[in-house]
Amino acid sequence: MGEYKIAGGYPLRGSVSVGGSKNAVLPILAATLLNKGTSVIHNCPMIRDTAISIAILKAVGCTVTQDGGTITVNSKTADNNLVPDELVREMRSSIVFLGSVLGLFKSATISYPGGCELGARPIDLHIKSLRSLGADIKEEGGLIICKADKLTGAQIFLDMPSVGATENAMLAAVCANGDTVISNAAKEPEIVDLQQFLRGMGAMITGAGTDEIVIRGVKSLHEAEHTVIPDRIVAGTFLAGAAITGGKIVLENVIPEHLSVVSHRLCEMGCAVNEYDDAIELAAPGRLKSLGRLRTQPYPGFPTDMQPQFMSMLSVADGESLIEETLFESRSKHINELMRMGANITHLPDGRTSIIKGVKRLQGATVVSMDLRGGAALILAGLAAAGKTRVIDSKHIRRGYENIEGALASLGAKISYSDQA
Ligand code: UD1
Repeated sequence: MGEYKIAGGYPLRGSVSVGGSKNAVLPILAATLLNKGTSVIHNCPMIRDTAISIAILKAVGCTVTQDGGTITVNSKTADNNLVPDELVREMRSSIVFLGSVLGLFKSATISYPGGCELGARPIDLHIKSLRSLGADIKEEGGLIICKADKLTGAQIFLDMPSVGATENAMLAAVCANGDTVISNAAKEPEIVDLQQFLRGMGAMITGAGTDEIVIRGVKSLHEAEHTVIPDRIVAGTFLAGAAITGGKIVLENVIPEHLSVVSHRLCEMGCAVNEYDDAIELAAPGRLKSLGRLRTQPYPGFPTDMQPQFMSMLSVADGESLIEETLFESRSKHINELMRMGANITHLPDGRTSIIKGVKRLQGATVVSMDLRGGAALILAGLAAAGKTRVIDSKHIRRGYENIEGALASLGAKISYSDQA
């Protein structure tokens, strides 16, 4: 259990550089299995989810070394198709190893991902895609056991543009026999980054970033080097931090296009946002304006991973806003904690809609972070609140933010972290 201590009321000012994307590095590390050789991945964020991915790669027999943000994986020695249960339990997104382990060994065993903090997060689309490619998949005693004599290209239609299912289908199809078309694919920038890396290894794959990805299976892949894209959610969190504290910051090492809907919404709230080639500048108004309605949607819509941070901002905005969470019905655990800090939020019985009446100021309190982005939202609320806030966190925030307290302190926030574990 760790704890963030924050003294609120200090506007964020200055510049900060954004690290590599968590959601991009995880499937890319999974993909390093496929070339049976060396991959060098730069700009990896030093977060717990990266450490868990490295542990999975080692558990399946790879040699992994790390030098700062550069991770080198040698998958030549990989010899184990079992993804360890304790690692899957720690990180639900380890399910993305299913496609690559299956692609490499033509068999894979992984436990059913548990410990979901965002409500039911089914994996039916992952299973359906891999079955379409010829995998025989059984669920036995909490394990998912996949076998395929060979993987054969197929038409895959995703009922929903699931990020993880799209990635698993890509990973399993790049070395399958023949052509695969993934329709209604997720279009997130992290999918495009995975395609870039796979192409760097010699995969024949196009269409990522659109709703149709076309793959021509190749016999083998070769060694590759890749630089992970910047984390658009970390970037959005810093922008929200400047906005909620009435500050002014420059974010460096970002791809502004990946944040366009977030920047657009911040402008509607009264912020001045300037975009440069690889930087964004934000200046906050005296008081943020409310938003009529904010609805989370798959990319390029408003990201669910920014919903809690926007709820913190809207809690102190002038007027009433409505947030509708369409992707994860349990992404609401931050609401009660924000209310402890004085936010006026009504969470409707549908479990998805929240009405937020902005108050002038939140009050510092002791609050509990129950998931990654909800935890980040509580830190932001603490930065703006009157007095002291303690955010008690069982390491969720460190799963996705590298030294967030250091970055915020460098921008003038009064924040510290202590690990009581
Ligand atoms: C990824 C991101 C996460 C982000 C989410 C949505 C990673 C590691 N995580 O999660 O940060 O919040 O995208 O942008 O990249 N669904 C099904 N069946 C399935 C799979 C998904 O019904 O087999 C549903 C989910 O319940 C959810 C929706 O599809 O309602 C989107 O989920 P998905 O895109 O799969 O999210 P993740 O890949 O888990």
